[in-house]
Amino acid sequence: MDGTRTGTDQMERFTPGPDTARAFRDALGRFATGVTVVTALAEDGPVGITANSFASVSLDPPLVLWSPARASSRFAVFAGAGHFAIHVLGQEHRDLAAHFVRNGRDFAGVATVSGPGGAPLIEGCLARFACRTAARHDAGDHLIVVGEVLEAGMRPGEPLVFSQGAYGHFLRGH
Ligand SMILES: Cc1cc2nc3c(=O)[nH]c(=O)nc-3n(C[C@H](O)[C@H](O)[C@H](O)COP(=O)(O)O)c2cc1C
Repeated sequence: MDGTRTGTDQMERFTPGPDTARAFRDALGRFATGVTVVTALAEDGPVGITANSFASVSLDPPLVLWSPARASSRFAVFAGAGHFAIHVLGQEHRDLAAHFVRNGRDFAGVATVSGPGGAPLIEGCLARFACRTAARHDAGDHLIVVGEVLEAGMRPGEPLVFSQGAYGHFLRGH
């Protein structure tokens, strides 16, 4: 018994809880997102993490957010960072996304320059937001980190998309 039931409209319904954790994850995964790599400078070097929790928040002042998971081995670095950079990935950056899912410390072959507060800026992404940490909010098993965007950049291109556990492309106008 997994705590889910099916309505007449074929929608599986459930109350999120221990018995329905898989269904809750799957329902959240129906939401398509872009994919980012967030970077920060730790005491012992640069750290990166693939994240799809990025969201725009405010135009004036310019604010964005993302959510590091408390369970991640990289949590302490990102929760404590005074500055960080968000890199929006293009569809050609699947390997880069997979790399920073697995390993946060290996920047071999990843071209970076130093941004505000020392946060590593990865070259060649679709868009980039260099941030100063403006606020942190507890949010269950994640932390919400709000950044004030000090410097932004972009180039033409198509985004990498993530939904239902898979990377994909954005089909314009379909
Ligand atoms: C598409 C995608 C999006 C992710 N988004 C986040 C995220 O927003 N926040 C987060 O903490 N981890 C996210 N992760 C997981 C991290 O990239 C990383 O795998 C996880 O923190 C495990 O790191 P660890 O092995 O250092 O503990 C995401 C993974 C994938 C594949």
